[in-house]
Amino acid sequence: MTILVTGGAGYIGTHTCIELIKAGYDIVVVDNFSNSKPEALERVCEITGHNIISYKTDIQNKQELEKIFSQHNIEAVIHFAGLKAVGESVQLPLTYYQTNIMSTLTLCEVMKKYDVKNLVFSSSATVYGATDQVPILEESPLNPVNPYGRTKHMIEEVLRDLVKSDNNWSIALLRYFNPVGAHESGEIGEDPTGIPNNLMPYISQVAVGKLESLQVFGADYKTVDGTGVRDYIHVVDLAQGHIKALEKIIDTNGIEAYNLGTGNGYSVLQVISAFEKVSGIKIPYSIGERRPGDAALCYADVSKAKEDLKWGARKGIEDMCQDSWRWQRKYPNGYSQKSIKIYSN
Ligand code: NAD
Ligand code: UFG
Repeated sequence: MTILVTGGAGYIGTHTCIELIKAGYDIVVVDNFSNSKPEALERVCEITGHNIISYKTDIQNKQELEKIFSQHNIEAVIHFAGLKAVGESVQLPLTYYQTNIMSTLTLCEVMKKYDVKNLVFSSSATVYGATDQVPILEESPLNPVNPYGRTKHMIEEVLRDLVKSDNNWSIALLRYFNPVGAHESGEIGEDPTGIPNNLMPYISQVAVGKLESLQVFGADYKTVDGTGVRDYIHVVDLAQGHIKALEKIIDTNGIEAYNLGTGNGYSVLQVISAFEKVSGIKIPYSIGERRPGDAALCYADVSKAKEDLKWGARKGIEDMCQDSWRWQRKYPNGYSQKSIKIYSN
């Protein structure tokens, strides 16, 4: 069975391509490489020993997309492609609405034309907004607080309308919590542009000496130690969740949202301490102001994914830190051409 993976060269996409290949699927990747490098796909080929058919195409380009659908017998789509930086979305709302929403509309139009009605969509826990009602259930109110989150919410609504209009569609809305970690080979991982906004890549870059010190955004929350608590999930567990969601949608019709997290929350200080333990490196940090828009607590109720998808995360916080660290020290400059392997093991 052939699966089209949009955004398949990105962080979560590459890890999912590996799991798809391992599960015996044929894949076709379409990515415009706006936030990734072809090298990432080359590494997926090396890890799996399989070639990957990939197209450098913007999925807003309907004609190009139609060509791909006409050339391959695509039976389902996993749709990762999109812009994902919260801060940037506040600065560039039109770019975010245009890219994330228009590309999804174009993709769905082409899917409809080619009678491909199985879709796994990358949503985000950000659709819940800054709620402190934890654990978060799929039925919890949706109240995104930034343009990025609103694009995800709007796309979810569009997809619900699509299913109402034609019950042959089968769609899984996967709401990821905080994806971290990397493939255990250390060959692929998260490669943020510039200074990372997210905690794990920031800590990794401090550990490898690229950044001096971490600023902890607030230590006066009502949490275990005052710092923000999140549901970090290993990217390989997350990738495997996509395979389970795919199996589910191929067998059923309709639309369902699933939280993909571990169900456990870790504070910023607990993550620092887990990272220090596995790396043996002290992470210098200082306590700063709260970051606007941050919730104190955010973790998932994952029982729906467990029951319906027969999926659960297996890796713990130390695996996440260990694998992030292996990738970071093997490739301190990510996929950039200047990157050199400085670590062999
Ligand atoms: P990523 O940026 O690494 O991957 C996205 C990929 O899509 C990139 O390779 C990029 O080049 C490509 N792309 C972007 N716009 C495109 C377009 N118009 N046409 C073709 N390709 C395009 O991001 P990721 O972390 O792998 O996230 C994948 C998806 O999961 C995104 O939709 C993101 O919003 C969602 N998500 C990510 C997180 C996270 O923390 N990483 C959390 C929740 C949800
Ligand atoms: N943090 C720091 N210092 C940093 C970076 C983060 O203390 O330099 C703290 C944050 O305040 C938060 C925790 O670390 O308490 C995690 O922050 P991240 O930025 O890694 O993750 P968020 O939960 O804020 O955001 C993530 C994704 C968003 C998504 C959101 C909700 O990055 O795309 O989850 O799902 F919208």
